[in-house]
Amino acid sequence: MALSTGSKIIKTAVFISGTGSNLKSLIKFSKLKKSPISINLIISNNPKSKGLEYANIFKIKKKVFSLKKITDEKKILFELKKDKIDLICLAGFMKILSKTFIKSFKGKILNIHPSLLPKFKGLNTHERAINKKEKYSGCTVHFVNSKLDSGKIILQKRVKIKKDDTPKTLAKKILSQEHKLYPKAILKVFSL
Ligand code: GRF
Repeated sequence: MALSTGSKIIKTAVFISGTGSNLKSLIKFSKLKKSPISINLIISNNPKSKGLEYANIFKIKKKVFSLKKITDEKKILFELKKDKIDLICLAGFMKILSKTFIKSFKGKILNIHPSLLPKFKGLNTHERAINKKEKYSGCTVHFVNSKLDSGKIILQKRVKIKKDDTPKTLAKKILSQEHKLYPKAILKVFSL
């Protein structure tokens, strides 16, 4: 699975929609010596994303595109090319990218999903896992292909669902595992 990158640092864009806690953990990871990536661009479809604050804090370029118009994807591709971006990390990004977009970045888009895929693709994963009386849920980092939450799995982390867990408590437990899993998955895919 490891893709050799020589000694070249992989220029990465992180796509967010909300809080951006995974973005924050990826930025921190990118600053470590062992990290194969640098984060050069933050893209959000939501101008109110709290995560955009990290662009100011860490002095990373940010761009907002609502993605309500098909031309927005073209504009994003233009930005990615301009900044020579090699990797896209979707991190709590709530928009579905078109097949054309995914094709033009084939094999270079990763996503983190808060369930043990292939279980519970899509939204409200924690609620569905609890309602199904699953013993475990967790998170998955995977390559993005044209089918939602269906690309090749890179790494997963299991989290136990306790009897008194609510979607909120489970989300919190899983989110803190996501922060560790995404950097680990990047290290697994890209060996320096
Ligand atoms: C995470 O649980 C992620 O897996 C899901 O949305 C949440 C985003 O959290 N897709 P954050 O914006 O990274 O804090």
